[in-house]
Amino acid sequence: MTASHDQIKFAYWVPNVSGGLVISKIEQRTGWDIDYNRRLAQIAEDSGFDYALSQIRFTAGYGAEFQHEPVAFSHALLAATKKLKVIAALLPGPWNPAVAAKQIATISQLTEGRVAVNIVSGWFRGEFTAIGEPWLDHDERYRRSEEFIRALRGIWTQDNFTFRGDFYRFSDYTLKPKPAHPSPEIFQGGSSRAARDMASRVSDWYFTNGNSVEEIKKQVEDIRAKARANNHSVKIGVNAFAIARESEAEARAVLDEIIAKADPEAVTAFGHEVKNAGKASPEGQGNWAKSSFEDLVQYNDGFKTNLIGTPEQIAERIIALKEVGVDLVLLGFLHFQEEVEYFGRRVIPLVRALEAKTTVHAQAAE
Ligand SMILES: Cc1cc2nc3c(=O)[nH]c(=O)nc-3n(C[C@H](O)[C@H](O)[C@H](O)COP(=O)(O)O)c2cc1C
Repeated sequence: MTASHDQIKFAYWVPNVSGGLVISKIEQRTGWDIDYNRRLAQIAEDSGFDYALSQIRFTAGYGAEFQHEPVAFSHALLAATKKLKVIAALLPGPWNPAVAAKQIATISQLTEGRVAVNIVSGWFRGEFTAIGEPWLDHDERYRRSEEFIRALRGIWTQDNFTFRGDFYRFSDYTLKPKPAHPSPEIFQGGSSRAARDMASRVSDWYFTNGNSVEEIKKQVEDIRAKARANNHSVKIGVNAFAIARESEAEARAVLDEIIAKADPEAVTAFGHEVKNAGKASPEGQGNWAKSSFEDLVQYNDGFKTNLIGTPEQIAERIIALKEVGVDLVLLGFLHFQEEVEYFGRRVIPLVRALEAKTTVHAQAAE
């Protein structure tokens, strides 16, 4: 059995970019400003959410007209909360690991170690061009991200850190102060071969796009087998766009409306960009490799995970994910504040009750 005995964790996407998480003209009662987000973070920690994940975008495209910078924004959310962990997105290239390590170490010191990082490898070529960053091939982007992660970890845990990579070099470098103990957790996004191989070597957490339980199971088995061979352990987070309503029909109607009001030009252009970004991934297993028009209406294939229905149906589907080895569910919503509160009140307690039952069964069988 691959399921962890630990409780499954919940994270939400921080709406630090405008336009929400679906490329649709449906009404979204979600703000990207700091006041909305501070309140959202407080609601989330009171509702049983463990983590908030910020996003890094440098330019608009397919919605997302305004984008707040994620490290500064994450710190503001940490300052407004007491126990929530906030994951700051970092994009190697624009970010240099020496600056990132220092910035995050300071935030960690100021927030009792509640900051984590998500190393993203990039999919938006137009954005790189706009800020004068060279656009590397798909697998090269991951080679750079892996060096970035090794550098962060080295700086955070060692004195006199020396590293000779192709992208980054450090000589006898000692960071003081180091982050609060334990070191910030390192998440990564991506599901291509290169992304999985990187996770199985260096990341604490692997984040993947939404998918069916069967497809997630294949990814988990693949990564865990490789990680074991590397003497490394990695936890798994899966994206989902949650639509929890008192009846299944109501929830399905919301999904239908999101898709009916999708902006076809923006969705098609986004699909073109992400598929192009993954092209150099030779095996064709990257995020979005198989995404349909409908899937692409949600930026990270979140409808595919099918957390759409009643609280009971959603809780059961979360347990099914846990049973194939998923450790965390990352959630997007249409109306964040209202729905995070509802999810915490109606869905998380059902998940906890089901988990308690499973643990009792497992103990009886031992
Ligand atoms: C949960 C999650 C969060 C991500 N956040 C960002 C982000 O904030 N900014 C960004 O440019 N890319 C982000 N990405 C994209 C990934 O870093 C990666 O570039 C993309 O998934 C390509 O994956 P592939 O290797 O499977 O083709 C995210 C991906 C996932 C799964």
